Amino acid sequence: RPRVLSGIQPTSGSFHLGNYLGAVRQWVDLQKDNDAFYMVVDLHAITVPQDPAALRENSRVSVAQLLGAGVDPEHCTLFLQSHVPEHAELGWVMNCLTGFGEAARMTQFKDKSAKQGSDSTTVGLFTYPVLMVADVLLYQADAVPVGEDQRQHLELTRDLAERFNTRYQPTFTIPKPYILKETAKIMDLQDPTAKMSKSAASPKGLVSLLDDPKVSAKKFKSAVTDTDTVVSYDEEKKAGVSNLLRIHSALSGQSIEQLVAHFEGKMYGALKTELAELFTEWVGPFQQRTREFLDDPAELDRVLAVGAAKAREVAAVTLETVYDRIGFVPAA
Ligand code: TYM
Repeated sequence: RPRVLSGIQPTSGSFHLGNYLGAVRQWVDLQKDNDAFYMVVDLHAITVPQDPAALRENSRVSVAQLLGAGVDPEHCTLFLQSHVPEHAELGWVMNCLTGFGEAARMTQFKDKSAKQGSDSTTVGLFTYPVLMVADVLLYQADAVPVGEDQRQHLELTRDLAERFNTRYQPTFTIPKPYILKETAKIMDLQDPTAKMSKSAASPKGLVSLLDDPKVSAKKFKSAVTDTDTVVSYDEEKKAGVSNLLRIHSALSGQSIEQLVAHFEGKMYGALKTELAELFTEWVGPFQQRTREFLDDPAELDRVLAVGAAKAREVAAVTLETVYDRIGFVPAA
């Protein structure tokens, strides 16, 4: 069975709708027919300052949300990145294979560090994509389900895998991004030219999955659209409406064409109201399941222990091969 791997940061506690539609939903689908490895990337989280108690809590809340969304530890390997030391170890090897300029070209780093200023930007943030490379290559993943914003990091992953394979000998599977066009980039509800993100300018543009559903319903109803009135799909001229249509389509299973026909002769308000209802119907049960997992910390710990053990079995084999090919003396 093909191997898939992906990761999500625990930084904000609640996932947002972009995380779910862009990535986590695909994780749930892919676990059926693939050998799937999914993790909460706590090592990545500390590239920016984290309060220890909040990090611990957010990591657990993240795992609970993955379970609540339908990630099933019976059908995949679910773990915390820090439980598998091979990530940091292969990360170091990959750092030594990455050009400084190559890392400096990563647009997410450029954006984030520009906002922070160079004295508060850590070296960890700079090498963040290289750790992600290690995450993927450790498991010899064939495909990596992510949103559009991770595409460049996966190109780096492919480049470094090929570089290692050429410099030493064929060792790594070259992974492919698995990015679904329709949900690859969910936009901010207040600024449909920017992707939905936890660092949004206005909290009204961000739909957090653990918020009171009434709050989120309001955000859908006050989403920024345009001065036209016809519901139609045009990503350039009608970015706001098109974003709402894509979200509706993802949640309802109806195609964009069906939706455009359905909303013919109706105003934007009808689209927003329906979307708010659809989201509320989905998010209620999601929150309920997430809460149940959070209320059973012993079960959560058990899931994570099983996941870490399974992940380490695979990761250790890859790392041992890598160390050998590099020329390290085997530990007796
Ligand atoms: P993170 O935690 O920022 O986001 C998790 C996933 O959500 C996707 N995403 C979006 N998709 C559509 N529209 C949006 N507005 C949106 N915002 C976020 C992201 O693309 C991602 O798939 N570097 C990764 C975590 C990571 C990883 C890995 C992923 C670490 N190691 C190995 C894959 C494989 C990140 O920060 O994702």
